[in-house]
Amino acid sequence: MVTDQRTTASRRAREALPSPIRKLTPLAERAKAEGVHVHHLNIGQPDLPIPQSVIDSIRAFGGPLLPYAPSQGISEVIDAWRDYYAGIGLRFERNEVLVTAGGSESLQFAMMAVADPGDEIMVFEPTYANYFGFAKMASVEISPVVLRAEDGYHLPKVSEIETHVTPRTRALLFTTPGNPTGTVYSYRELEILSEVAARHDLFLIADETYREIVFEGARNMSAMKIDATADRTILVDTVSKRFSATGARVGCIASHHRGVMDGALRFAQARLSAPTVEQLAMVPVLRDPRPYTDRLAEVYRRRRDVVYGALSKFPGVRVRRPEGAFYVFAVFPIDDGERFASWLLSDFRSGSETVMVAPGDGFYSTPGLGKQEIRLACVLEETVLARAMEILEEALRAYPGSIYPGRKVQSE
Ligand SMILES: Cc1ncc(COP(=O)(O)O)c(C=O)c1O
Repeated sequence: MVTDQRTTASRRAREALPSPIRKLTPLAERAKAEGVHVHHLNIGQPDLPIPQSVIDSIRAFGGPLLPYAPSQGISEVIDAWRDYYAGIGLRFERNEVLVTAGGSESLQFAMMAVADPGDEIMVFEPTYANYFGFAKMASVEISPVVLRAEDGYHLPKVSEIETHVTPRTRALLFTTPGNPTGTVYSYRELEILSEVAARHDLFLIADETYREIVFEGARNMSAMKIDATADRTILVDTVSKRFSATGARVGCIASHHRGVMDGALRFAQARLSAPTVEQLAMVPVLRDPRPYTDRLAEVYRRRRDVVYGALSKFPGVRVRRPEGAFYVFAVFPIDDGERFASWLLSDFRSGSETVMVAPGDGFYSTPGLGKQEIRLACVLEETVLARAMEILEEALRAYPGSIYPGRKVQSE
């Protein structure tokens, strides 16, 4: 007989975290059903056309078979990623690159290849929220180092980072350029992470999903360029943001560490392969990315200027100019970001428009943090972004939980 207890979903399943970004979607759908135009600033879905070569390759795919790809990736695609890396001054052997189903799968492989259940991976928060979900799936603990808005979400002192290293720590996982912060670590910061990793014998997992989207300073920086720890660094990469191709589900994991790459290959064999047609479609743009990525960085820089320019004039909002990626993360004069985001969708209208934003607390694992922070994704055209900023300012004035100096109070 099957008992209730045996058919209870696993603790891992029960504790799996819903995406904080997607949980407001039903409210947005309801607003849209009422005819409201919702400006989406909540999700990192690029609005820019993919490179023409991607469309051409997909159209040219003739079949008649649509086979599995090899687990490590199609050899031509592995070589295209190696060419891409060579273009930024990084050399990898053929067995040091593995094609994945997006950066998400690279992250899962990297975490599972470095940490056993119960081990810890250090992250710097606010951080990409899905790291928490991947850690839960791998039964790995996240050990958070909290970054401060007043430091522009740059790294704290080495001594502060080191207080979080425990006997169970296996890796430092970091994102530069950052999501949700847009912060780009300096070369010195990468050296600091490298020093900590070397001193405590840890892996470095560098999520460089937004590598080319840098507005000030070096555009092709990578943690892999720090020679002292190149043998313990694992790169997480993807075509999703740099080529505006989130739906392709193509990424890669690259490392000189044999044990990690052998493990990643075995994980990859269990899931058989990454998408065949989409992998092949990325070959031309991986071989020659600059015409696309240079323009992309310029488009996002102009949008950053629109959003940052507007927010920095909002009384009570604390914002700093992000150096990269396509997000602006700011401290708002509000009681609670999630309540504000829900209210924008359910109660507030500027004419027949509103905005959807991502509440900041979802980017922290430490309870209570991020309540006043909001992430805005610059994935709309400049004129639309400018309008969305007007709506947001109007909303701040009207929001009942606002401590905005210019707020209209009902009894006025
Ligand atoms: C920092 C970061 N890493 C990884 C990913 C996941 O990328 P992919 O779409 O390639 O799975 C994202 C997506 O938003 C991201 O922001």
